[in-house]
Amino acid sequence: MPEVETEIGRYLDRRAAVDWYRANRRRTAEIFEMLAPEAYHDRPIALRNPIVFYEGHLPAFSVNTLVKRGLGQPGIDPRFEVLFERGIDPEDESAVPGAPAAWPPRVEILAYGARADRAIVEALETKDVTREDSPVLARGLAAYTILEHEPMHQETLLYMWHRLPYGKKRAPEGAPRPVLGGDPPGRATVRVPAGLATLGAKTNAVAFGWDNEFAEHVVEVPGFEIDIDDVTNRDFLEFVRAGGYEREDLWSEEGWLWRGENDVHHPAFWERSGDDWTWRGMFEPLPLPPGWPVFVSHAEASAYARWRDSRLPTEAEFHRAAYGTSAGSERSYPWGEEPPDRTRGNFDFARWDPVPVGSFPAGASAWGVRDLLGNGWEWTSTVFGPFPGFEPMPSYPVYSTDFFDGKHWVMKGGSLATANPLLRRSFRNWFRGNYPYVYATFRTVRGT
Ligand SMILES: [Fe+2]
Repeated sequence: MPEVETEIGRYLDRRAAVDWYRANRRRTAEIFEMLAPEAYHDRPIALRNPIVFYEGHLPAFSVNTLVKRGLGQPGIDPRFEVLFERGIDPEDESAVPGAPAAWPPRVEILAYGARADRAIVEALETKDVTREDSPVLARGLAAYTILEHEPMHQETLLYMWHRLPYGKKRAPEGAPRPVLGGDPPGRATVRVPAGLATLGAKTNAVAFGWDNEFAEHVVEVPGFEIDIDDVTNRDFLEFVRAGGYEREDLWSEEGWLWRGENDVHHPAFWERSGDDWTWRGMFEPLPLPPGWPVFVSHAEASAYARWRDSRLPTEAEFHRAAYGTSAGSERSYPWGEEPPDRTRGNFDFARWDPVPVGSFPAGASAWGVRDLLGNGWEWTSTVFGPFPGFEPMPSYPVYSTDFFDGKHWVMKGGSLATANPLLRRSFRNWFRGNYPYVYATFRTVRGT
């Protein structure tokens, strides 16, 4: 491998980039190894592509972005690079695009992946992937784009695997046992006084950010009161038992329509067994763990909040609760400046299911608010949109713009399947309000 040139080293360490790429590919392979072969063409979530698509999409996206768009070189196989170009996010099942008549055999997809890996590693090791005269390559943009794209899809894969029947997947060797925990602490809140929250990032302050993270701006946030812990299964069970799913007054018009059309009466991760509830664990059904954060859609979270005479936090309130301090300064992470590690929260693929709320005191924010990073993304009441100064990213121009449609909501924080690099303060996630399959929870706030 050549020496790291000064210019490239400023933005991207070749050795670190190759290691990161290989670690991503290894984790993707491990995630696919959990599958029984007969699950390969399953479509566990009707609103997403079948599983086979993703094994082709990851390498094809990397080739399209770094090799073709970035370096201007030919790809490896034009057929694959079109077929596996983009995922889907249709409004409902009737809008799901038609699948190709037949997917290529798996052996061909794996062979394509191996060729793509060689091309990407060669590019990262030897090509000028930080050219300042190329908008796609400047500051290593295309390289970072592919390096963060893969772990984001690993999360997609895992919540898809979560929907598969238990006979179609198996736990990897040494997988940690679920921690059921007992009854959670009672619901408690803390007052966060009025103050400033910095949203987004400065271009020069982060090695890489997706386009929707820019530009940095400061907003004034009035005082509010926020739940210290995420809403738990036990809390949400009260809502279910109180008939919350049958009360139209608690739901938005859109949420009520979704609830009715899909006959939704409880969270998608719950299953009824007689008078009891079961949690659909990754590798085994579990008696509903009362202290785990409830995973629900935005519509369900909003209805619950209204039932409690409260509401979801705005994106700015999340920032204030997570990163603000009484001194007026802001932290990089809820706990301070140290990078994320296993003592701070349930993230970075350490587990395959959530853990009880409040399990990581070392991850609490300055106000004592817990689990803001990890154990489940947190829904906000903020519609996903561009920050002032937004510009589509040259390495992936439709990454965010396709979703600025008023129908997607910002999620912050991170889940058990969110990789450490994506835990940076400015990272934003978003989903449709009626999407119940993602590892997303919420907490409620009161105040103006
Ligand atoms: Fe993708």
